[in-house]
Amino acid sequence: GPVDGLTVRLASGNPHKARELGVLLPGWRIEPLDAGPMPEEVGATFYENARAKARYGRTVAEPGAWVLGEDSGLEVEGLGGRPGIRSARYAGEDASDEDNLDRLLEELAGVGPAGRRARYVCELVCLSPELGELRGRGTLEGRIAEEPRGSAGFGYDPVFVPDGQSGTVAELGDAWKAGSSHRARAAEALREAVGSALREE
Ligand code: IMP
Repeated sequence: GPVDGLTVRLASGNPHKARELGVLLPGWRIEPLDAGPMPEEVGATFYENARAKARYGRTVAEPGAWVLGEDSGLEVEGLGGRPGIRSARYAGEDASDEDNLDRLLEELAGVGPAGRRARYVCELVCLSPELGELRGRGTLEGRIAEEPRGSAGFGYDPVFVPDGQSGTVAELGDAWKAGSSHRARAAEALREAVGSALREE
């Protein structure tokens, strides 16, 4: 691809995201920034938060570096779109993935199929000194299972069943995720945005 060998600094404290993005952006060298604590997520949307992370990353990365910000989460129909941008902190500021997942299942106790409809969202914002801001968004539609199953992935994966599947993302595994997840779709959109910006340059 056009940016093969390019190092892109990732502004995220989440090692799962760095690992997944490294696979999803082949040819890009994704290097997590040792950025210390991220700024509070104050935006109203995934996009605003991804952009805030990227902008913060730019202040700590070496001058001239490309930086990448990522924000993602889960929107559940019966919860009015929650946990949404608060997905990582749904059960409290220092909540673990397991705490968040437990809270989600509690809130959905007794809720039927319509209310269990859900969507993963991923927004990627890349800041390039040459090309400016480039963006990629991806979503994955599905539903929240009654109980956790499987061990791959992270976060809400043990309870998220994508449309057309019977297994959870945690059962479907890393290879399925790399081909079909919200993050995979966002990465593809971002690669296309970078490709077309490079052609226009
Ligand atoms: P962020 O670091 O603020 O973007 O938090 C994202 C949160 O959304 C994660 O901590 C997970 O709870 C959830 N999330 C995002 N992407 C995924 C995924 O691929 N699988 C499972 N949970 C995810």
